[in-house]
Order: sequence, then structure tokens, then C-alpha cells
Amino acid sequence: MKLYIISNRLPVKVSEKNGTFSFTRSEGGLATGLDSLQTAYEKHWIGWPGICVDNDSDKQAIGEKLEELNFHPVFLSDTQIKNYYEGYSNSTIWPLCHYFFAYTLYKDTFWQAYREVNKRFCETICRLIGPEDKVWVQDYQLMLLPGMLREAVPDLCIGYFHHIPFPSYELFRILPERAEILKGLLGADFIAFHTHDYMRHFISAVERVLRMNFKLDEIQLGNRVVRIDALPMGINYDLYHNASTQPEVRQAVDRTRKLFGDHKLILSVDRLDYSKGILHRLRGFAAFLEHHPEYHGKIALAMIIVPSRDHVGSYAQLKTKIDEEIGSINGAYSTMDWTPVYYFYHGFSFEELTAMYHMADIALVTPLRDGMNLVAKEYVAAKSENPGVLILSEMAGAAVELTDALLINPNDTGQIERAICQALEMPVEEQLRRLQNMQKIISTQTVDKWAADFTDEWNDICRKNISFRKKQITANAIGSIKQEYNRAKKRLILLDYDGTLAALKPRPEDAEPTPELIETLQKLCEDSDNHIVINSGRDHFTLEK
Ligand code: UDP
Ligand code: G6P
Repeated sequence: MKLYIISNRLPVKVSEKNGTFSFTRSEGGLATGLDSLQTAYEKHWIGWPGICVDNDSDKQAIGEKLEELNFHPVFLSDTQIKNYYEGYSNSTIWPLCHYFFAYTLYKDTFWQAYREVNKRFCETICRLIGPEDKVWVQDYQLMLLPGMLREAVPDLCIGYFHHIPFPSYELFRILPERAEILKGLLGADFIAFHTHDYMRHFISAVERVLRMNFKLDEIQLGNRVVRIDALPMGINYDLYHNASTQPEVRQAVDRTRKLFGDHKLILSVDRLDYSKGILHRLRGFAAFLEHHPEYHGKIALAMIIVPSRDHVGSYAQLKTKIDEEIGSINGAYSTMDWTPVYYFYHGFSFEELTAMYHMADIALVTPLRDGMNLVAKEYVAAKSENPGVLILSEMAGAAVELTDALLINPNDTGQIERAICQALEMPVEEQLRRLQNMQKIISTQTVDKWAADFTDEWNDICRKNISFRKKQITANAIGSIKQEYNRAKKRLILLDYDGTLAALKPRPEDAEPTPELIETLQKLCEDSDNHIVINSGRDHFTLEK
């Protein structure tokens, strides 16, 4: 049995220079986290390889290399990338889910491309999977895919994980295609989110947009049940915790030490993204420098910013503002032998990154919204005997577990400034105590545990759904039901609605009882010895009708 992970981006990205293709690790929590997952299933991955190529021989060359790793590429055209990836995914859904309502763009071409690419993923999956395989869809770029797969292969075991925040109903309702998106997601057997809040928001969106009711964490749709849960994603703890014992990481630590000398080192690591609160962080650091001249010459902020989605207008503008803000801080405070902000605008390798985690006295993680934020967990895991302080935004999903961090509201520049002071002055024993408390949590809730919890619950619901589909009433049973009916003096008849009275349809709102069935119900009701109850999670409009 194979487990197919489906995500927009594969864990490796392909780039081309002078006709030669190179393959490097993708940044972003989804790819880094799931790539480090160890599982008993044979793991396959279907996704976009991060490059647009036109000719078939290039596609074949890339495909062959990726297939060696069980990665199956879905090639997308420039126009699809523009409208589906930069458009609907990252100019419509991403800002909406991160509460950047004003950045949200609506264009019909975006939506058409989103549907088209989801369909393309669906076709690739159908071509590759076998009857026993399971398909685990990841993230907001592919929210229509579970529904499309359900229609194409009704018995398929489909899971979905949402890696970014699910916004409150008041925000989600703004989306013109809100109903289609929710119906797409409900094609899965099991849907999970990082936190309870995101899960509650999803339930409320389904109940209010589709007028269907959840019973606790489950909803009945025809002859199947969809279950939802909150499962915070973890990291490969040992990989980060033991990294500093690797010779390459030790060498990188030495290089880092030479670069930063004995300055106190504050580290921040993000993709270039307005949701990460990079400008708020810089303003907090500037306020700290302004009010604490005693630290001038003794502290440095190292900012690693990985280029991301730079063809999207809001990202390109952010880059300009960050460059200006860093220029302004360094211009105001730098001396001949001190630079307050070190700025790296490129991705770091695993070895370089973990060396920075190992060295940094403080990690400053200040997203305005973040589904989880794995960087915060990686920093904590990378600490062994050496101390360090995590300053973490309460708007990151990770804040639910990492309560021993210094939690701040990133919109409050004063709080960022005070947290930096507190971190710098924190006794080593307290730093170690807080780190140990957090390490206890993240060394248990690892990415493997997260995936195992997901697959356990998912398997359970798939088994339940298969057994639902198999229940059939035989001709014999009908005979004895008739006999019992005729013998009874008073009858209580309990009827389910979806899949019982209303035939199953791919779109739940199309399910309706037939006129013959309504006539039968009327006949049953005419007999005063019968008491008929219809039990349904549907809203009262549907039931009254
Ligand atoms: N990362 C990396 N190289 C870098 C910077 C970041 O590999 O130079 C990785 C980092 O280790 C982390 C991921 O990118 O696993 C970022 O994940 P996070 O959840 O913090 O944010 P996301 O980018 O998914 O929004
Ligand atoms: C976040 C999203 C992922 C995405 C990653 C990197 O982690 O949840 O789905 O892959 O950012 O973004 P990119 O657009 O480069 O794939």
C-alpha cells in the first residue's frame, strides 16, 4: 500500500543554468516537515517541481531524476503559474487566510486556473494510484482536489491537511467561491488543522455557508462521514537536536562565530512574506537600539530572508520596504567596527541554518499570522547544552504549544523592544528551564507522531466509511421486515435522511427524496398506529421543504 502525498510544491525545486538542471531543497514548512517524515508506508509525492519547462525532453529529464526519489512532477505552464499559483493561491486565498483582507485580489481568470490545475492534479493522481493506495492532499493550493477525487474514485481514502490559518467566518464569507471551496474540502474522509481555532472556524464556515450541521467533529454526507481534528505539525526533533554533532555543522558554527565575534546574536528566519511581520520586527529592533545605547556595538540582528513569490506585487513591494528599513537602521547606527543588522536575502542550507540556530542567543519570530511556524520549533530543538531565548508572536500556531517562549503581540513595537531586553537579561538557568520545558513538548509531538496521529484517525474513518457503503438489505430481510410491520400494533419508524431518503449525489444540495418516496411517507403517516421520525443533520429549511 502506498501513501501519496500531494502538494503544490515538491520538497525539491529544480532550477536551470546554461542548459543544466540542478535540484535543491525547497524551503517552507510543508516541504521541509513532510520530507523529513519517516513512515511505514511506501511514500510517494506528487507536486510541481518549481520550474516551467516547455519541451518534452526537458520534462522527461527532470521526471526521470525525480522518479528516482518517488517524486512525480506535475508540470505547469507559465500562465497556470501566473493565475493559479501567483493568482488564486497567493493573491486571493493566502492573504484572506492570513487576515490581509486588503491584499486580496479577485479575478475570474485566477479562479478558472485554480480549477484547471486542481483538475490536472486529479488526473495525474488517478493515473498513478492503485486500488489500495491512500491520497493525502496538502494545503490551500489544492482545496478543490478532494472533491474532484471523490467524484472520480468514490471509494478512495482521501485525507487533507490545511497548513495555514483557516480564517473566521466573517472573513471567509467574503470569498465569492466560498461554497465550492468548502464542498471541495468535504470530498476528503478526514480533514485536519494545526489548531482548535482554525478547526472551529472551518466548522462555522461549513454550517453557515452550506447550511449543514456537524455533530461534534463529524459531518454526515450521504453514505459517508467526514471527520475533522486539530493536529499541530511537529518537526524531526532528533535531526535538529543532534545537528551540531555533524562535522559540516561544526564547521559552519566556526565560520558563524568568526563573522559575529562575541556580539550577542539575535536571529530571524523567514520566507519573504508580509504575514511574517518582518517590518514590525525591524521597527521593534530600531526602538530597542534607540532606547538602549548601552547595547550598541554589543548586539547584532541576523536576518535570513528567503526569496518567495516575488512576482506577486505585494511581495515585491515588501522587499523594497525591508531594504529601506534595514538601510535606515544600519545608516543610523553602524560604526567602523559594528553593523547592527546583517541581511541575507537567499536560502541557507540545512547545515548553515542549524549552525545559526545553535549560535543565536535569541530567536525573534514575530509573524502577524502564521499557521504554525516551524522555525520557532527548530530553534528550540537545535539547542542542546547551550542556552537561548525564543521570542514568539502569539499569532503563530506554534504559540499554542510553546508557552515557555516570551510571547508578544507583534503589532506592539514596545513589547518587541521589552522582550529583547528581557531576553538579554534573562539568567542562564531560566533560559535552560524554559528551553527544556519546550523541548519536552516538541520532542514528543514530532512530525512522525503528527503523521501517525493523522493516519490513525484517517484509517479509522475510512474503515467506517467502507463499512457504511457495504450495508445492504437482502431480499430475506425485506420479507421479515414486512412480517414484523404487519404484526406490530404500534410502530416507531426512525429514518435517516441523506443516503436513506435522499439519494446520494456528488453535490449534497442536489440530494432530494423522489415523489414516489414522499407518497410512501404520506401513506405511512396516514396510519395512526405509525409514528415517523426523520433524523437529519440538515438545516430546518431543507427539512421543512
Ligand atoms: N528554511 C530553509 N532554509 C532557509 C530558511 C528556512 O530550509 O534558508 C526552512 C526552515 O528550516 C523551515 C521552513 O523553511 O523548516 C520554514 O517553515 P515555517 O513553518 O517557519 O514557515 P513557512 O515558510 O512554511 O511559512
Ligand atoms: C507555506 C505554505 C506551503 C508553501 C510554503 C512555501 O508553508 O503553507 O504550502 O509551500 O509556504 O511557499 P511557496 O509558495 O514557495 O511554495
